Amino acid sequence: MNSPGYARKEESLPPHPLYSEKELDYSDYKQYQPEIDGCPKKVEMTTLVAENIVVQQEEYTQCNEQERCDHVKPPQSILLKGLFSCIKAPMKTTTKTGFNIGSLFVKGTAFLAPMAGFANLPFRRLCRELGCDFVTTEMVSAEGLVRCGAGSEKLLADHPLDRPRAVQLFGADPGSMARAALLIQERDLADVLDINMGCPVRKVVSSGAGSALLKVPQKAIRIVEAVKKAVDLPITVKLRAGWDQSNICAVELGLRLEQAGADALFLHPRTKAQGFSGRADWSLVADLVDAVSIPVIGGGDVRSPGQALSHMLETGCAGVQVGRAALGNPGIFSKWPKVSVNQSGTWIPSPDERLSAFERHLQLYIEYAGEKKAALELRKHVPHYFRGIPGASRYKAAAQQAGSCDELLDLARKLLVPGT
Ligand SMILES: Cc1cc2nc3c(=O)[nH]c(=O)nc-3n(C[C@H](O)[C@H](O)[C@H](O)COP(=O)(O)O)c2cc1C
Repeated sequence: MNSPGYARKEESLPPHPLYSEKELDYSDYKQYQPEIDGCPKKVEMTTLVAENIVVQQEEYTQCNEQERCDHVKPPQSILLKGLFSCIKAPMKTTTKTGFNIGSLFVKGTAFLAPMAGFANLPFRRLCRELGCDFVTTEMVSAEGLVRCGAGSEKLLADHPLDRPRAVQLFGADPGSMARAALLIQERDLADVLDINMGCPVRKVVSSGAGSALLKVPQKAIRIVEAVKKAVDLPITVKLRAGWDQSNICAVELGLRLEQAGADALFLHPRTKAQGFSGRADWSLVADLVDAVSIPVIGGGDVRSPGQALSHMLETGCAGVQVGRAALGNPGIFSKWPKVSVNQSGTWIPSPDERLSAFERHLQLYIEYAGEKKAALELRKHVPHYFRGIPGASRYKAAAQQAGSCDELLDLARKLLVPGT
């Protein structure tokens, strides 16, 4: 198998804990194929600053797997609003250091995106340890939660170092959403409640939840109003751009959600119809930022800290959420742009960095689920850690058969640091 685990049902995408494997049709996840697979490209970044306005210049070094890689790009400069001349200089002030989501102050701009089947407690902790400022749980069914579903409980696993975090709920019924939100607040499981209005998975959409709500704004608003009324926690909504290209609604809906009580908005600027194809349209993030007065966190196709910084500067968004690019590369957060830090270096992790992230991921997973489950469930992360390493396919195949954590670690060592 050479594609990441979320490509097809027959491969290793785990069932959504709420549903049995039979029930959930994973063909919707086909499009979750990350475009970055197989590319060990190196991005050198220089920063040019004039009057606190930054231009990022990324120089893509030739990738050594060129025949498989279409990501070798010519140097690319991004000219930012209001820039009249540039001088090469150390970065002074670039990004905001933090902002409020309702009453909660978030001390940074680096967000881990919710990823069902991947962004569970050990992965979130790993990302936090490596510099991520805020995490969101995998989506949790409001119905499952109010009916005390065991699957939902697992998704809510908590740890003091998993904070601040949002618990993401999905559902179509304002009453159940409000009850689920209250349960989460009463059990002190979240700092923020996030409402999913973007999931394109068929089973979720056909229940009227996720991106189906983009088509029925009145219901989306009723949900936010009901949740707001039920809890004191800050409320956020994670949106897609709209149902399809003819029905882009993020700005209009975002405004109404703000009026309904949302304290911040996450936007993945693709339509439901697009799934994961095409490119995220960050101009929609800029439009949403201009329209609303609450913080907007954008996300979609961000593959390097430099790109995150550029998006923040170009769109004015308060933070950037990273999903697929953090898989196998949680260290992306450790290179996150910080105020008063010169930007220079690569974002593709070295083999040593990959190995130490993988080792720590294993440790955290064992703590979370025990040795046996960790070995089984971490298999799907392996292709991400090995992405782009020459000769990785043999190891990826072997990792899918590995029966213990020691075996997995041994394989990782042999591939990443040969001779150890
Ligand atoms: C495997 C996978 C699972 C996802 N699960 C969720 C989810 O539970 N809730 C949600 O709002 N978005 C989910 N998403 C969407 C991501 O949060 C994110 O918006 C999207 O992947 C775009 O960001 P990226 O290009 O950085 O990956 C998922 C994405 C992937 C790849």
